[in-house]
Parts: sequence; structure tokens; C-alpha cells
Amino acid sequence: MPQLAYVDGRIVPLSHASVSVEDRGLQFADSLYEVCSIFNGQLLDWPLHIARLRRGLAALFIDFPMSDAALGLVARRLIAANGHHEAILYIQVTRGHAKRDHPFPKAARATLIMTVRRFDFAQRRGQQQTGISVITLPDLRWRRVDLKTTGLLPNVLAKQDARAEGAFEAWFVSEAGIVHEGSSTNAWIVKNGTIITHPLSEHILPGIARHSLIALARADGLTVEERPFSLAEALEADEALLTSTTAPLLPVVRIDGHPVGSGTPGPVADRLAKLVSGEIARQTGWHG
Ligand SMILES: Cc1ncc(COP(=O)(O)O)c(C=O)c1O
Repeated sequence: MPQLAYVDGRIVPLSHASVSVEDRGLQFADSLYEVCSIFNGQLLDWPLHIARLRRGLAALFIDFPMSDAALGLVARRLIAANGHHEAILYIQVTRGHAKRDHPFPKAARATLIMTVRRFDFAQRRGQQQTGISVITLPDLRWRRVDLKTTGLLPNVLAKQDARAEGAFEAWFVSEAGIVHEGSSTNAWIVKNGTIITHPLSEHILPGIARHSLIALARADGLTVEERPFSLAEALEADEALLTSTTAPLLPVVRIDGHPVGSGTPGPVADRLAKLVSGEIARQTGWHG
């Protein structure tokens, strides 16, 4: 079966899916995106993704008249049409296409794109057992990274640096030495049983996996502090972790080549991974 995509009202083979060369998403990164996980053919945390998208659209004054219900219908139709059980749904909304000019065009209509790709979540199990490494880099991004825009060049370059050094992720560190987040993940440390992650601010993306993990951990009796932590603190932590939609919970065992704690995944990461798996099973019936 060919891969299918949704572009502006039509489901078409991915190989035929296209937008205008004058789309503002292409020319200015004047667009927002979402990445949602699908387990057992079911979307995980869909309302949270839609709420984040709506917040971003409002912040950027992108007029997107489709209702949440219609968006959900399109997404589910595309997921069913592609027939994947474990997959990633990618959604992008741009300000539309118009003659290239910086101010908002008067007559443009928002472009909506969706794709679905099979994704092997089971591959994460091995990484959960061994843990992964991160490197650190200066945070060179703009001051509104709380908006999930497609302006991801610093993130792309950072991820490439990580890969070149054999690491899974790069953590962005501020001039003051604060760990903001990863290039496509949120960052966490654990010290004396307390789980610590950067508070919501313009320096981090409000990750959906972050949001869910905080709720799950607190409901399980764990202490979570949303406060800035420094790279020095991370290097002295008992454990470190990262979260995202495509990497729901991975233990970080090395930072810039230095072992974190024992240098192996710790008990808190293990407990949190079980909570995350339980939540995925509760919402979607997926047991891996
Ligand atoms: C910069 C950044 N931080 C954090 C995340 C994690 O967000 P989520 O949990 O919604 O996938 C992402 C995901 O793409 C990201 O790009």
C-alpha cells in the first residue's frame, strides 16, 4: 500500500503530496507542527497536542478555521488509510502561500499537511536498558522556543553534532550554565529521589511527554520539582533522563562523556518507564 498524506482537503499518495513553492512554511518557517504517537492505531494524548497547536496558532496569529473535531476526523481517517498500528502522525499548519513578502499576506489561507509514518517504538526498549548519551551545546535558538515552529535549524545542527559524536541527543545549555532541553526532547535529572526538570518558560518547548510524566510521577507519590538545573548539577545527579513523543522515556547515562551516577540506568528511570508504559496501555491498549 502506498504511503498516504493529507494536503489541504485531500488524501493523496505521499509521492504526489505537494505545496506551493511560495508557501510561507517553506520560505519563512512561518508555521507550526505537531508530532503525535499512535499505538494500536490510537492517538496518544491527542487533546494535549491539539491544545498546544491552538496555543501556537493564536500566538502567531495564524488563522486556522478548522474545528478540533474536524482535525481529529482528518487525522483518524489518514491513520486508518495508512493502516499502521505503531506510527507517528506529523501535522503542519502554515500561514499559507502568497507572493513572498514578510508581512502577513491579506488573502492567504492556512495550509494543513499531515503524514503518517510507521514507527518502531519497541526499539526504545533496548535504549531503555542500556541508556543513552548526550552532549551539551550553547543554546543559540530564538527566545520563543515554547512555540513549536518549524524553524528548527539550530536543533537540526545540534542533533547532527550529537550523532557525529555518537550521542543520542544534544542538550542546550544557557550562557548561565542552565540546561534548557534537548534538540528534540525535554531534559530531566534525579537527585536524592527528587525528579527535576526546567519549568515551563520561553526557553523550552512544553513537551507533551513532559506534561504526562509530571502527572504520572506525582500520582505515583514521587516528588517533581519544575525548576532550572545547571549542567554542573546534572553532572552530579544520581540519574538523568529525557522525554519526547518519539522517545517517551530514556535514561541518560553519559553527559559529554562523563557517567551520570553509576553510568547505568537507575531505579527512578525504571519506575518512570513503567508508569509511561502503563499510561500508553491504559489509553491505547498497547502492551509492546
Ligand atoms: C525542542 C523540543 N523539546 C522537547 C520536545 C518534546 O516534546 P513532546 O514531548 O511534545 O514530543 C520536542 C519534540 O519534538 C522538541 O522538539
